[in-house]
Amino acid sequence: MKIFSGGSNKSLTEKIAKKLGFSLSSLEIHTFPDKEKRVRVLDSVVNVDCVVVQSTGMPVDENYFELLLIIDALKRSGAKSVTAVVPYLGYARQDHVFRSGEARSFAVIARMIEVVGVDKLVTFDLHSIKIPELFKIPVAHLSALPLFAEKIRKIEVSSDVVLVSPDMGGIRRVEQLSRMLGDLPTATIEKKRDLETGKITSESIKGMLRERAIIVDDMISTGATIVQAAELLTNNGVEEMIVFATHPVFVSDAPRLLERSDIEVVYVTDTIEVPKEKQFPKLEILSVVDMVAKELFKA
Ligand code: R5P
Repeated sequence: MKIFSGGSNKSLTEKIAKKLGFSLSSLEIHTFPDKEKRVRVLDSVVNVDCVVVQSTGMPVDENYFELLLIIDALKRSGAKSVTAVVPYLGYARQDHVFRSGEARSFAVIARMIEVVGVDKLVTFDLHSIKIPELFKIPVAHLSALPLFAEKIRKIEVSSDVVLVSPDMGGIRRVEQLSRMLGDLPTATIEKKRDLETGKITSESIKGMLRERAIIVDDMISTGATIVQAAELLTNNGVEEMIVFATHPVFVSDAPRLLERSDIEVVYVTDTIEVPKEKQFPKLEILSVVDMVAKELFKA
């Protein structure tokens, strides 16, 4: 097996390679002044099973395109198979048409991934469990929930705690986590999103609250969902809150909003690399490396 890294999450790729006892194989990725990229495989991959790791956080389109070029280069260089590890799969929130006339963007992404010749896709906590059905190739849909459960057990959360989904779409997620933790109680926030402006409002809560809350989500993008959820919980008597979210997309002001909120700790994973300037004191990053290594080892 040979492991290659795109430019978006080299630190995770290095950890995966180390865990599996490999060193990273070489790629040349050149960016022209107009931002076009030229990709070249420098190692011999003839008849070799190859793995490419590339997350598709910001800049999403650029990272996707680089991934597609790397896969094409590997295939043309004779790779026996290519497994794409895309820990965060951008565009997954656009898996269906919300308003007439829209593109079904994620279906386009899925087709592109298949057309360039990916043999298997490994990814984490997709926005919807139906997304793997959009692919004809095998998809290993992994989840950071076991990692979260392990952390929650370690921090010895007392019995006065409730797991909270910040929207209806996340109910399944908190229920799964609850089962892992011996049936902790759950609650759900009713969130509305204006499809024109993207503005969200977290309106009411379904379920009993307790003194402490653990908010669980698949991703934090602008931070609005989590921060509004936290405000609503505080207004309803919750005294302590921590957050677990798999993907730290962290656009614009998100780190500052999270740091200023009443939330005590924000746990995310390294599916997306968080640059130094976006890290903040309340942030803790858990690693998905063992899960990826285990999945690749299985193959
Ligand atoms: C949406 O349904 C997702 O599960 C997340 O709650 C959402 O994408 C987070 O986005 P933001 O941080 O911009 O509110």
